[in-house]
Amino acid sequence: MAHIKKLNFLKNHKDLNDEKFGMVAVPTFSDKMDKDLKALFESQNKTGKVGELAFEIDSNSRIVYYGLGHSSKKTPENFRRAAGEIITYAINNKYDEVAVECPITDEGEYYCQAFSEGLILSSYRFLNYLTDERGKYHLKSITMVGSCNEDAAKKGAIIASAVCDSRDLGNHPGNIATPSKLANFAKEVGKKGGMKVTIFDREEFTKMGMGSFAGVAQGTNEPPKFIIMEYNGGKKEEKPVILVGKGLTFDTGGVSLKPGLNMDQMKFDMCGSAVVFGAMNAIASLKPKMNVVAIVPSTHNMLGGSAIRPGDILTAYNGKTIEVLNTDAEGRLILADALSYASKHYDPEYILDFATLTGAVVITLGHIATGLMSNNETLVENIKVSSDNTGEHVWQLPLWDEYCDQVKSDVADVKNLGSPGQAGTIAGAAFLKAFVGKDIPWAHFDVAGTSYKVENRSYIQKNSASGQVIRLVLDLLGA
Ligand code: BES
Ligand code: MN
Ligand code: ZN
Repeated sequence: MAHIKKLNFLKNHKDLNDEKFGMVAVPTFSDKMDKDLKALFESQNKTGKVGELAFEIDSNSRIVYYGLGHSSKKTPENFRRAAGEIITYAINNKYDEVAVECPITDEGEYYCQAFSEGLILSSYRFLNYLTDERGKYHLKSITMVGSCNEDAAKKGAIIASAVCDSRDLGNHPGNIATPSKLANFAKEVGKKGGMKVTIFDREEFTKMGMGSFAGVAQGTNEPPKFIIMEYNGGKKEEKPVILVGKGLTFDTGGVSLKPGLNMDQMKFDMCGSAVVFGAMNAIASLKPKMNVVAIVPSTHNMLGGSAIRPGDILTAYNGKTIEVLNTDAEGRLILADALSYASKHYDPEYILDFATLTGAVVITLGHIATGLMSNNETLVENIKVSSDNTGEHVWQLPLWDEYCDQVKSDVADVKNLGSPGQAGTIAGAAFLKAFVGKDIPWAHFDVAGTSYKVENRSYIQKNSASGQVIRLVLDLLGA
């Protein structure tokens, strides 16, 4: 993994003369340029739009001007994107020490946070397995210069760094990012944040009655893990928020085998759990006063002599029976036990789950927005506010009773498919709902489209796991 983990700060502009900075980025709003600067941008066919860079004519100059668009249209997300263009340029041109003049004047601290998020997020490259030149990472430091709010900028850096760690979990392939690796990551984060981490192995969770998770895991030799992290930063009587994540470390489809084309991308099928781990990772550093529990069922979905078959009936942790009509709809099977466990053992304020659950959500919303389904409109409204803050789009789909009827089975309580050819993403949520305790506010995030293959965001490397929605969760929690 390569990314910058924290920012340096420099209050005095005079220190910018320090030779060590190979590049110094200087901000400008398109409507606030003086004549010369405007001419410089124009000579390079630019106007100072968000993230546009203009270079001094003198090739010895270290100064690069970056545009922030019109000052009346500034948003935190635009600051993130501008930061992303600066660092992308610095990496592509092999700079090692970069100074960035802080663009913040009176916009408030969230702008500082967002700008520093952009700097760190865009510094990430996944290079672990490149042993030649391409694997070299030259960037050593990013220094913020000027009057930015240091606390807010540091917070942004902590959060963004946690997002980068999670991208890494997603990018490592299935032979490396195994359930055991996820469990070890949880233990490390737990140690850092003073959390209690409990891991149930196959034998244990099978004995406990997690027949649905065990059913999916029975086809693989790679040891599956049921991972629980408990962070108690709040008062004892305060209800915890529970974050549940799909930790499917490789999805072949099982006996209902997936086609070969692009199957390698199913290493990303644990990106829901990466959201959960990312939030816990940031929480471990930020230490907010609240209680948060993370639950991640993690396994490969493989095929072979001991794998489950279409038609098999499994019994979940809450006692409900499930007819497995397609072994490729495995995410909902492992989440059924995680949601049942969360509902039985805690009295949560609310539960959020994150999963690369359906290909259908990519058809519906593309790689642009996360599918959101919930049993509680207040929770949805709060999620939308956080989504606007963090620039991570969510779009709500309905979860009416008619959809829930579509996952009823003739031979068991529920089946893991909806009606053929209809509302596949909602069917996934309708299935999950059967395993959420009555009266518990709950929201389901289908991140199959947004956790990788994201394009045209300067601070997300193409072909990498995106780490999207972690920032939204932290904003929602008020961490
Ligand atoms: N992990 C997949 C969903 C997925 C598909 C994520 C494409 C990212 C890109 C999930 O386990 C799956 O296979 N879902 C099936 C469900 C179907 C059998 C009802 C799907 O979407 O095809
Ligand atoms: Mn699948
Ligand atoms: Zn899957």
